[in-house]
Amino acid sequence: MCGIMGYVGHRSALPILLDGLRRLEYRGYDSAGVAVLNDGHIEVRKTAGKLAQLTAITGTPELLSGTAGIGHTRWATHGLPTDANAHPHSDCDGHVVVIHNGIIENFLSLREDLQARGHTFRSDTDTEVIAHLIEEELQGPETRKHGNAEARPSGSLRITNHESRITMVPLEEAVRRALQHTRGAYAIVVLCSDQPDRIVAVRQISPLIIGLGEGETLLASDIPALLSYTRDVLIIEDGEMAVITARGATVQRLDGAAVAKEPMRITWDAEMAEKGGYPHFMLKEIHEQPRALQETMMGRLDVPRAPELDGVSYTSEFVRGLRKLWITACGTAYHAGLVGRWVIEHWAQIPVEPELASELRYRHPLIDPNAMAVAISQSGETADTLAAAREARKRGARLAAITNVVGSTLSREADDVLYVRAGPEIAVASSKAYITMLVALQMLALDLGLRRGAMAPARAAQIISALKALPGKAQEVLLREGEVESLAGRLADRDHMFFIGRGLDYAVAQEGSLKLKEISYLHSEALAAGELKHGTLALVTPGVPVFALVTQRHVYEKTLSNIQEVKARGGLVIAVAYDSDTEITKHAEVVLRIPDTDDDLAPVLSIIPLQLFAYYVARARGNDIDQPRNLAKSVTVE
Ligand code: F6R
Repeated sequence: MCGIMGYVGHRSALPILLDGLRRLEYRGYDSAGVAVLNDGHIEVRKTAGKLAQLTAITGTPELLSGTAGIGHTRWATHGLPTDANAHPHSDCDGHVVVIHNGIIENFLSLREDLQARGHTFRSDTDTEVIAHLIEEELQGPETRKHGNAEARPSGSLRITNHESRITMVPLEEAVRRALQHTRGAYAIVVLCSDQPDRIVAVRQISPLIIGLGEGETLLASDIPALLSYTRDVLIIEDGEMAVITARGATVQRLDGAAVAKEPMRITWDAEMAEKGGYPHFMLKEIHEQPRALQETMMGRLDVPRAPELDGVSYTSEFVRGLRKLWITACGTAYHAGLVGRWVIEHWAQIPVEPELASELRYRHPLIDPNAMAVAISQSGETADTLAAAREARKRGARLAAITNVVGSTLSREADDVLYVRAGPEIAVASSKAYITMLVALQMLALDLGLRRGAMAPARAAQIISALKALPGKAQEVLLREGEVESLAGRLADRDHMFFIGRGLDYAVAQEGSLKLKEISYLHSEALAAGELKHGTLALVTPGVPVFALVTQRHVYEKTLSNIQEVKARGGLVIAVAYDSDTEITKHAEVVLRIPDTDDDLAPVLSIIPLQLFAYYVARARGNDIDQPRNLAKSVTVE
């Protein structure tokens, strides 16, 4: 997600902010900005586009002489990547500037209230409400705003300090009070022209690190941005607030209790630091999945019984009239679509046809205006998916997009957009985008089911609570990584592997097999378990690994029979099963466990051991995991 950088000390802040942001570039971003405090004024420069564009508008003396400042690279979640939406955002007078990583869930109602109290907003972002809330807390309601920020060309803003202003409340206190009004997951950093010695930062889920230097203190969303300046860091935890000055940092909890923290010495080299200490982006992204899942659901499942899907604007009348849904996508996104088919048919009682985008676009599909097409794409730029989506739309279908990239071509062309909010995915092999697509599709299915009256509210409530438990359960699966790693070590020299399952397990088997192929380069195939005996069983010889997914209780006995067919040929059965499944140990040589969940949600957990397995096999084989041969992250050709 967004990159954050802050500096207060004795040197010119600007070059340090820009350098830090450059080191966070790998996170992916669409706009950037800085705010520098100089002689009682805050100078803001921000622009859509790359850091080079920001650098081009920052070389002025008033910016260069400031010794405190904050910087940000934005990866859009609320509002398009424009100059106005780039961070920092300021209050009405421009005395307070804020940068933010994450999401303020209740920003719409906060914004309406603030506007009603006379605040002027300059962006579409959720972030801006924080600046205005702090403004109120600093001034108290009776002495509210009296100044003006005058807009300048190229996204710059000159902020005038008002002599008459009397600020009584310490910045950290005002921030604490302001945040009591917000809900969400975030890291925020605040600079105030009236209290120029300090920068205040708060972490609520999104990462925040303080760097301790000699007569200077820094902060960043990730360690690589700090390593040129210091290796001594404080890791800020959820619910903590840091106040940094040139002399160091104090940390307290948001309730005001002081926190004693020991600095940690970072010994990573620059390359490791960029990957958050993981050897590969793929492993980092696999480990980011619990947090990504949380973000996908954030603010969308807070109502006890119906999801609130921002960006989705179809009416209940339209949904009730739907005769058919088409799901179209490529590769991993298509595999997510197969899970989507299951839950939409099951929960919303609408027939769903999943079709590979590269096929759909050329097969003259019988799509009509009573249909909706759901195009799924991490990048939102995959050529085949775009073409299939356009074809569906041309034939009269309403187009819904499920994508990770705000402002991508697919998101711009769709009638409804549900962002998965996985954050930038760097490894070519998709992991966190897949898992968040699953949850996005599950939320969509819930919404459709409730609007059509096909799903009982009690069942919806059950699913919502099971969905909310998924991030914690995904974390539990990751704690079992060691078992998967040793299994991968044992099997890394094999040439063929198979993945079998029924229903949703078959959908996950296909994704597990694709993961293994693309990064380990060994041959694997996924089959509906019942299909094995119709041909492929001929390839199962003694010792051939067969992964059997057995999370679907309604077909459990059937899958066990298929496992017996494998065992009878000497195949090595590795099961992916629930913790509660005691029967499976009688049938499988190895069992990779996942916590129990609603069977309809099981794919979100059962894919994780398979992602890890693919990763560790590829690593044992010495492959280039993040950039596997012959493959590209975004396939913009047919
Ligand atoms: C596999 C993988 C690809 C993509 C596919 C579609 O790990 O990443 O199969 O899923 O190329 O890409 P998007 O989702 O960007 O449309």
